[in-house]
Amino acid sequence: MAAGAYPMSYLATAGASAAPITRLGWGLLTISIVVVLMVGALLAGALWRRRAGVSPDPEGRLPVERRGPGLRWVWVGVGISTLALFVSTVWTLTTLAAVRHPPRPPALTIQVTGHDWWWEARYLGDAPGRDFTTANELHIPVGQPVRLELRSADVIHSFWIPKLGGKTDLIPGRTNMAWIEADRPGDYRGQCGEFCGLEHARMALQVVADPPAAFQAWRDRQLAAPAPAASPPIAAGAAVFQARCGACHAIRGTPAGGLFGPDLSHLALRRTLAAGTLTNDPQGLTAWLADPQAIKPGNEMPRVPLTDGDRAALVAYLQSLS
Ligand code: CUA
Repeated sequence: MAAGAYPMSYLATAGASAAPITRLGWGLLTISIVVVLMVGALLAGALWRRRAGVSPDPEGRLPVERRGPGLRWVWVGVGISTLALFVSTVWTLTTLAAVRHPPRPPALTIQVTGHDWWWEARYLGDAPGRDFTTANELHIPVGQPVRLELRSADVIHSFWIPKLGGKTDLIPGRTNMAWIEADRPGDYRGQCGEFCGLEHARMALQVVADPPAAFQAWRDRQLAAPAPAASPPIAAGAAVFQARCGACHAIRGTPAGGLFGPDLSHLALRRTLAAGTLTNDPQGLTAWLADPQAIKPGNEMPRVPLTDGDRAALVAYLQSLS
């Protein structure tokens, strides 16, 4: 159950938003195991008695004096079952109430929009003009609740970071609220938790919990326009991007302002591409640009015809956006 070994474990969690769910998970697991052991023991006992020839009814009819104790055991069984279900129900309802609201006012609000098949994240600014948008990777400050406003651009998705809490659906036409909190720094893997089409399995997201100072530095960096190095291939890549990609993707500080695909400002700072599908490095980016439909069939990114030279320049430019 170590943090790194099972990134999707909900039985070893890391925050106040998940702790009551973890206790409930272990509790229900324990109750279930006890029930299975009891039923198994009774079944084994009955089989053994039958095999040993101990029959309550040797003459072919049930003796009247045995009906009493038999019925009593039925009621004991009903009582135990009712008690187990009652405890589980009350505990579940208490847990739902406990995780409904964060214990302290949230440090920030992120609007998360589910798309087929990626995550848009808009950070609401701490001051006017300090909003920004990123994709597929959320950064949060450690030890502070973060409020999430969950929406969908198309079909029902579900936001799920197992180590940080339960699932909340993203439903077209409405806004659902959720919150997460991480009590130690680290990477927490998430996954769309509701089947949403062909590439549902490749709709992952990453939550990176940083100490508050590091989080603030990341946020300030996201707010600034990326400053790619001045070199001929990077300048050529920027020109290719404006001509071929800017209608669908945005990069702050450039004329590219497309809203259809993920915002690519500071793309080089992200760990993965295509919602957790590929590692974000030159090889991954080159493969993605060459044939996104082979890697994630059905996604909205078309095969853009590019010469090898243009593609290499584009990769150099995108890798410089930090
Ligand atoms: Cu989005 Cu499954």
